[in-house]
Amino acid sequence: ERWTATDAYTISHLHPSSKPNHAAITAAKEHSEANGLPDIGTNDNAAKMLALQCKFGKVSHALEVGTLGGVTPIWLTTMNPDLRVTTIEYEPKHAKVARENVERAGVADRVDVITGAGLDVLPKLQEQIEKGEKEPLGLTYIDADKGNNWAYFDWAVKLSRPGAVIYVDNVVQGGIIAKEPEDDSWRSRAVMGARKVIENVGKDTRVEALVQQTVGDHSYDGWLMAVVL
Ligand code: DHB
Ligand code: MG
Repeated sequence: ERWTATDAYTISHLHPSSKPNHAAITAAKEHSEANGLPDIGTNDNAAKMLALQCKFGKVSHALEVGTLGGVTPIWLTTMNPDLRVTTIEYEPKHAKVARENVERAGVADRVDVITGAGLDVLPKLQEQIEKGEKEPLGLTYIDADKGNNWAYFDWAVKLSRPGAVIYVDNVVQGGIIAKEPEDDSWRSRAVMGARKVIENVGKDTRVEALVQQTVGDHSYDGWLMAVVL
């Protein structure tokens, strides 16, 4: 309750309705909800932090794995006029709503919503980058099927420029990830996905990384942040 109230209070001051992109973000969330998308979208603080990171890092191309309704790409592009975003979504219905949202937000020319499985789409993104059709990545946000976290991370490193940042969402999950799970439930597989990316990244000499624990309107979770060396 205090986490949610603090988020509401700080966001109302730091991102009030007078901000130029506020209406577009609100409209996208409403359109997602009206179309029955799950309410697990990246919260405003997290999305705005990614948007500010793009600004800080002068990022020209960002990748998101796991689009859902496209609210995060709207945050990123509305706050960064020169930024292009490639975002990959497995569920055709989510991708359709995301395309509608980015269209209505006026950023469809800079957001490429690709429908498909991440591991099928990423080799095609590699081709686009190698041909010079897209810039190497300056920021990646991985927020999709947790079992593939490490595979997505490995791809992101390969497609990034030096100094790029890579985030992996939901690697804390209420603090249950510190212990190896003992069953094979959906939740345990998500924990294993978080543990695998943390353990592999720790041995990966291509990056330096940390995990930040967060509280807020999505309760207690956290993300891994890595910088490509
Ligand atoms: C949930 C939150 C997430 O950020 C996510 O990627 C998946 C699920 C959740 O709140 O259940
Ligand atoms: Mg998430």
